[in-house]
Amino acid sequence: MEKKPLVVVAGMIRKDVMAYLSEYVEIKQWTEKETIPKEVFAEWLEDAEGVWLTKTPLDAEAIAGAKKLKVAAQSAVGYDNVDIEALTARGIPYGNTPDVLTETVAEFGFALTLTAARRIVENVNFVKEGKWMERPSNIKGVDVSRNTIGIMGMGRIGTSIARRATAFGMEVLYFNRKQRPDDAETGYKFVSLDELYEKSDVVLCVLPLTEETMYLVDKEAFKKMKNTALFVNTGRGKEVRVEDLKWALENGEIDYAALDVVDPEPYGPGMGLLETGKCLITPHIASFTDRTRYDMAMLTENNLIRGVRGEVILTPVNPEVYKE
Ligand code: GLV
Repeated sequence: MEKKPLVVVAGMIRKDVMAYLSEYVEIKQWTEKETIPKEVFAEWLEDAEGVWLTKTPLDAEAIAGAKKLKVAAQSAVGYDNVDIEALTARGIPYGNTPDVLTETVAEFGFALTLTAARRIVENVNFVKEGKWMERPSNIKGVDVSRNTIGIMGMGRIGTSIARRATAFGMEVLYFNRKQRPDDAETGYKFVSLDELYEKSDVVLCVLPLTEETMYLVDKEAFKKMKNTALFVNTGRGKEVRVEDLKWALENGEIDYAALDVVDPEPYGPGMGLLETGKCLITPHIASFTDRTRYDMAMLTENNLIRGVRGEVILTPVNPEVYKE
């Protein structure tokens, strides 16, 4: 019988999808809680034809050592942990999971916005403490309707959030690399980052992490925002200088923050932001529904199987590897 190609799975993935994958490839999986050590990963990659990343850094050095590698993939739309240029230089496709998660992530981004605006968590905790009648004013919410949302990053997810915001009666401003062609129909307004900061009641960041967006939201940015602003981040934690956000919350530069991504992750009590009492943090779960996580894992599995067979993968972020 022909030998199955080896795929390294760098962390834990769904068992049902693992079972499918194992029908087609031989799997070597890292099952420990801590991230696979760099040296172990490099050694495993020496014989691998495919790799399934789980936020595992895949840098130029690891790629250079992976002599047999034909494909890399990950169940995520973001790929800031991967050196795409180094993969492309070797003609290796990288598959992410766009589209299948768009609505789910947008839904969560908007849910986080509403939860924060209406201080739902604080009010729930208040009832849990048995203090129904003693509501303090700091758990009074603000409206999103008749207010303005400024969306940083108007790709698939940003646009999907904009649709929801419009349905809730918000005006939509956005900052993006390019202006969208349909602003006249949607009524969304393409603005500079400064104008977005100055005019938005909700500033929502859903940018991909790149050299340009790394620590983009800093003290200067928070100073430009309204003192009443709600800042929401569902992009990447490293787009925000966390100590500057803490300063902005403590000094009343902005009113509140709601974050699904933070720097560093994991994040928790005693690390600063939660102690401000003006911040809501969820553990990077915007795509975390059973259906969507299944779809993401199946897409990743498909990309890997096609890749090790030398077939064109479904969602390459570097399709130029297929050009003659
Ligand atoms: C999650 O953060 C993703 O990039 O899909």
